[in-house]
Formats: sequence, structure tokens, C-alpha cells
Amino acid sequence: MAESMQGLHRTCRCAEVTEEMIGSEVTLMGWVQKARDKGGIIFVDLRDRSGIMQLIFENGIIDEEGFAKAGKLRSEFVIAVVGTVAKRGGAVNTNLATGTMEVQVRSLRILSESEVPPFPVEENSKTKDEVRLKYRYLDLRRPDLQKNLMLKSKVMMLTRQFFANEGFLEIETPMLGKSTPEGARDYLVPSRIHPGSFYGLPQSPQLYKQLLMCSGYDRYIQIARCFRDEDLRADRQPEFTQIDMELSFVDVDDVIDVNERFLSYLFKQVIDLDVKLPIQRITWQEAMDRFGSDKPDMRFGMELHDVSDIVKDCGFSVFTSALENGGSVRGINAEGQGEMPRKKIDKLVEFAKGYGAKGLAYIAIAKDGTRKSSFAKFMTEQEMDALIQAMDGKPGDLLLFAADKKKLVYDVLGALRLEMARQMELLDKNEYRFVWVTEFPLLEWSEEENRYTAMHHPFTMPMEEDIPLLDTDPGKVRAKAYDIVLNGNEIGGGSVRIHQDDIQERMFKELGFTPEAAHEQFGFLLDAFKYGVPPHAGLAYGLDRLVMLMAKVDSIRDVIAFPKVKDASCLMTKAPQRVSEAQLKELGLEVAPEEE
Ligand code: AMO
Ligand code: AMP
Repeated sequence: MAESMQGLHRTCRCAEVTEEMIGSEVTLMGWVQKARDKGGIIFVDLRDRSGIMQLIFENGIIDEEGFAKAGKLRSEFVIAVVGTVAKRGGAVNTNLATGTMEVQVRSLRILSESEVPPFPVEENSKTKDEVRLKYRYLDLRRPDLQKNLMLKSKVMMLTRQFFANEGFLEIETPMLGKSTPEGARDYLVPSRIHPGSFYGLPQSPQLYKQLLMCSGYDRYIQIARCFRDEDLRADRQPEFTQIDMELSFVDVDDVIDVNERFLSYLFKQVIDLDVKLPIQRITWQEAMDRFGSDKPDMRFGMELHDVSDIVKDCGFSVFTSALENGGSVRGINAEGQGEMPRKKIDKLVEFAKGYGAKGLAYIAIAKDGTRKSSFAKFMTEQEMDALIQAMDGKPGDLLLFAADKKKLVYDVLGALRLEMARQMELLDKNEYRFVWVTEFPLLEWSEEENRYTAMHHPFTMPMEEDIPLLDTDPGKVRAKAYDIVLNGNEIGGGSVRIHQDDIQERMFKELGFTPEAAHEQFGFLLDAFKYGVPPHAGLAYGLDRLVMLMAKVDSIRDVIAFPKVKDASCLMTKAPQRVSEAQLKELGLEVAPEEE
């Protein structure tokens, strides 16, 4: 039977017991990790969020009734004990912070019992994800997840502290709002009072924070929940959290400056890492040319080489026809991989095809200098030599080439570069390499929609010197937009905003908005800008991604208490679910019948 807490007060957490406390009495409460009955003496590992303390129940120290009760303890029972801290009688456990001590229990209360849990609550669980997520409340008892969430809590606390000291105000913005154009699909919430009308959950507080600048709040920060209905991946959830900010009377360098100081403060405080300032900056074009990615992982080299000039007159039609069609031929050198067996190379070809490549050409140079290549027969010896030289190829190296439209070549080689780094074990989670990627293109051509779309969002300011290009060559216009990238992850992004209505109008025109459509969607913002708007800029971090990297885990699921799975459902609550006819009726909604 569950006993009560009456008259008991916890003195500290399990792992807060120190050797100075030996001889004194403590009251501890927590979960039974493990109970071992050695006949006449019972050992129990007691767990709470701080760690584990070994309890010892000995007949004579605890009365007979208490000892009998201790014999009933099973994993995950919740108990309270009063006892004396002692030096461990048996072997010291060097794995535990409290491994030199134990608590000799004088009295025991069983606060609640537990059924046999569906999986053991332990670090580095081998249990399947689906089971862990169904019983997330048990999964969350595991020390590794507890550590991650404690880390996240600390990050949020330090973030608020840092920005408060810098004069930022924390201001909340609505969840029930008008949909914001961040590029993903919106989550909609039906209105009961306005049947047939919907609120949009915010993809980010973008429009509101710009309005706050119009209203003179100057420096805004919010730890904001955002919602995006997009395909999930390891670094994407349908709801996630941003550290969102906006500043008035600033330009790119001001935003970067305060954020570099923030990152250096945060990483020092949380994981004792010295971030070298200033953080390196590269332009988007340079990032694409060197790494095939706008979020380059800078922990290793293996940069792309443009060999278009070298192969433009060669006999290999895959290369020459790509160039004739306005494409490009580029390669990477996976140093030391020249002895890779054919089967494994074939897997790389398949990998490249997964990114849309038509194939992947290679030269494998064995340690003795002999070469195997998928296209040697189309080339002269001199052409091969020149190509290998352009790639800095040495005996023992594997050279991989893609020939296609430039964007596809970047995508394929960017992904392949990462895959090779994984295979070659070049990615060290203890190394943190930051980089700012700047001067993003303002617009991106959408084949699907047959029009330009905003690469960041429609309020992003073009670079002043590129504004004339808006009329002549919009695809070439660079934006005052920047991303902060850490180890190949986009942890944050932002831009200087347009505050001049003529530029905003031209931007909407490029994006294919009629003035009426623009007004329909963003009228309140455009109106607000008529009454005195300060130049402003901002940035938002993906908090979950940031914490994921600090915690050295592979998925943001491991830093979110109750995450969703790939199909955006919650395995524990089974959300989303169908609702009752009565609820639908109240909202004036009809839905398609349930599929079998
Ligand atoms: P952006 O869309 O780049 O910019 O988002 C900012 C950061 O949020 C994180 N992020 C996500 N994290 C988890 N799951 C997702 N589905 C997800 N989507 C984005 C990323 C990203 O860098 N309003 C602008 C910011 C601004 O201009 O100030 C915005 O939302 O780490
Ligand atoms: P094929 O002549 O199509 O058999 O191709 C010869 C070699 O070139 C094979 O190794 C293909 O994988 C490779 N290849 C084909 N298309 C491309 C491409 N677009 N880029 C790079 N290599 C390619």
C-alpha cells in the first residue's frame, strides 16, 4: 500500500550527498533502480534526477517490519528512506559520483509501487524507439535524457540572462494568429465563433517581431514555439523552439557581433568550450563552391574541385555533354580511400543517384599507383594525369566526380563529402566548428511554381549594390541574409529587413504577388511601415538543434521531452486524433470519412 509523505522532508538529492556528510542523517526519496537481497542484508540503488545512491538495509539497524518491507522492493518503486551516510563497506563503485558511500537505512516508506516496466530504465537504452516513445514518461527517467533536458533548461536560463543584460526585452507573440510565410505549410486552428475561418499557428514570430520594432521596443527576444507542417527528419520537428530576436537601428555586423558574444558566453558556461571570435564568415557562393552546401561542415577538408576546364575537351561524353548543356564537372578527393573495393564504390554510386545524380565517375588510385577508373577508356593518359593532378590525387586516393547542372553537382558532392567523412570517421562530436554563411541569394527559382520564391522570406533586404539587378537579373541579387552553421547544421538564420516600401513593393512583384494579394496577406505590416519604421534586422536559432549539438546527440528528439515521430504523430497520446461529431458541428466542419 502506498504510504504518505506526512512528517518527512527530503534533505537533499541522491548525488548531492558528499563525503563531508558521512556520519550524518539524511532523508532521500526516489525510484528503486535495482534491489538485491543477499539474505540478512539488502542493497538498493536509489535513483533521482541527480544520480544514484546505494542504500543498505540491515536487520538490527532497521527494525524487523522495515526489513520485511525492504524485501518487497522492486525496480521503479518510489520510496523514502531515513538513514545515516557511511563509507561503503564493500567495493567502491568508481562509476558513481557517490560510489564511495552508502546510506544505512533506519526507516523506509514505500510511497508507491510499480508494475514491471516494459523496458529497464537505464542509460544508453537498447530498447526500440517506438516502445520508448510510447512509454515516454519512463524513457524520460533515463539519465541520458534527463541530462539533455537539464542542459536545455540551462541554455534557456543563460539565454534569457545574456540578452536581458544586453538590453533585450522578452515579449510574447500570439500562437493564434495569421499564418506567416516561412516556406512550410501552416498548421491551422478552426474558429468556433467564425465558422469556416482559421487561425494559423506561427511558423515563426517573424511579422510580429517586425511590428514590435515599428512600435519602438528596440531589442526583442523570445524563446518561441514554432509550428511547421513539413516532412520530418532527425533535425526537424513539427513543433520546435526558436531563440528569436529582432533589433532596431542595426546592420548585419551588429547582429553578428551580439550573437558571437552570445555563442561564446553560452558554450563557455554550458560545456566549457572556448569559441574563437570572430567566427569565420564565408559567402554563400564560396560555401557552395568549396563544400557543395550552404551549411558546410568545417571539421574536415575534402573540398570540391571544379575540373570543368580540365575536362572540357576530353573524350568522355558524360563530362563534355554536361558542360555543353551549361553544367559543371566537379570532384572530391577522399584521401586514403583508393583501395576501396568495387562493391563499396558501387554503393557510393547508388548513394549519389539517391541525390539525383545520373552516375558517379571515379578514379581509384591504389597505393602502388595503379589506377582503376570507370571512364579511363574514354580518356588519354595525359588527360587522366591532368585530371588527377587538378584533384591533388596521390597514390592511395579515391577521386569521385559528378557531371550535371551546377546545383545538382553541388547537392551530390556536398552529400557525398559528408558520407565519406562519416565512413572515414572524420566527424568528432567533441569538436565544434562555427561558420557564418552570408550573402545568400535573395530569390530562388521554383521549377514547381514556375516563379521566384524568397530564399529566406519576403522581408529580407537585398544587398544595396545589387538592387539595380532586381529589374535585370533577379536571380543574381544577393541578400543581407546570414546563417550560423555549426558542424554542418544550420543552427540559426536571419536577415536585415526591408524597411523601404518601394523596395518591398519590388520584392513582392518579383515574388509574383499582385499589390492586392500582398495587401491581403501582409496589409497590416505594410500599413504599419507607413507610420515610421526603424531599420531593423534579426535572427532566430533553432534551440533544439543547438542543444542537440551541445548534448552530442544525433536527433532533436533526444532534447525534446515529448517529440513526434516521422509521420508527425505522438506515440504516447496518439495525437492527432479524430474528434467527435459534436465538436465538428460546433466548428462548422465536415471531414472526410475515416479510411479503412
Ligand atoms: P528559419 O526558418 O531559418 O528563420 O528558422 C530559424 C532556425 O530554426 C530552426 N528550425 C527548426 N528546428 C527544428 N525543427 C524545424 N522544423 C525547424 N525549422 C527551422 C533552424 C533554423 O536555422 N523568422 C526567421 C528568422 C529571422 O529571419 O529572424 C526564421 O524562422 O535552426
Ligand atoms: P556510362 O557511360 O553511362 O556507363 O557511364 C560511365 C561512368 O560514368 C559510370 O561510372 C557512371 O557512373 C558515370 N557517370 C554517368 N553519368 C554521370 C554523371 N552525370 N556524372 C558523373 N559520372 C557519371
